[in-house]
Amino acid sequence: MDKIIKKINKLKKEKNAIILGHFYENHEIQDISDFIGDSLALSQKAEKTEADIIVFAGVLFMAETAKILCPDKKILIPDLNAGCSLSDSCEEKKFKDFLDKHPDRYVVSYVNTSAKIKALSDYMCTSSNAVQIVESLPKDKKIIFGPDKNLGAYVKKQTNRDILLWDGACHVHKNFSAKKIKALKIKYPNAKVLSHPECEYSVLEISDYIGSTSGLLKYTKQVADNEFIIATEPGIIYQMQKANPKKLFLPAPSFDNDINICEYMKLTNLEKIYDSLNEEKYEIILEENLMNKARGSIIKMLEISDKLKL
Ligand code: 13P
Ligand code: SF4
Repeated sequence: MDKIIKKINKLKKEKNAIILGHFYENHEIQDISDFIGDSLALSQKAEKTEADIIVFAGVLFMAETAKILCPDKKILIPDLNAGCSLSDSCEEKKFKDFLDKHPDRYVVSYVNTSAKIKALSDYMCTSSNAVQIVESLPKDKKIIFGPDKNLGAYVKKQTNRDILLWDGACHVHKNFSAKKIKALKIKYPNAKVLSHPECEYSVLEISDYIGSTSGLLKYTKQVADNEFIIATEPGIIYQMQKANPKKLFLPAPSFDNDINICEYMKLTNLEKIYDSLNEEKYEIILEENLMNKARGSIIKMLEISDKLKL
């Protein structure tokens, strides 16, 4: 393991490359990343980096977002199969038909989408800023929110805006079982339930805190509680445990299996990172016209986030 890490670090230096990693990645990938974060922080980092090459240890929509923000940089993804079920739940033609039926509405889309959906949207958001992005829009403006219906319903409840939801979801987050979480709470009555807003309402309503991956991590450091049930992809528990070595973190149970992982995020390993850097594969290539159309909605999100210091 040490040998491959040394080889990766050498290549990074030679090529002026950085590795950006998401919290759901395998532990060794989180350890080797130059920066780890949630979707918002990763796009903010991509936009600002002076590296020539970014290896994106995450999923395709994240690497595409980086490419749209930095069209002159080489953006690599170690495995082209690192997709996202939520992004897949929003197909361009169907989404466009939906939008055409409601031309009076602003389109706010979650960043977990393809570049084509981004190009159809007025504003992007992530789970870190979805509520604030919607709140920044004129009060009388009607909105379409896609593709995640759970995050959308959560935002609708928080903001009290007229929001029409696209019917998409993430296979990992919709799979947490509120009934099983309640049963686990009987065994650990002091455990606080922390959940990602992509979870179903039945899980959100029994949660003590709801937030993005970085929001959940921050919460575990700020509170005095010692036991937590984590209703999001369990990769984040690695950072929670590192930051709070004496606290107990339990992955929330799901309907059909005990550990509810995002198999797309787990596709990246050290060998693939090395090959990616060495052979400069797989490069994200997007049509310039598409990138130009998609960029505006992402930039608007980053500007609002900057202003609000998110
Ligand atoms: P975050 O932006 O909260 O890290 O979420 C990304 C994601 O894919 C959630 O499933
Ligand atoms: Fe997509 Fe869900 Fe995986 Fe996040 S956890 S990357 S939303 S499939």
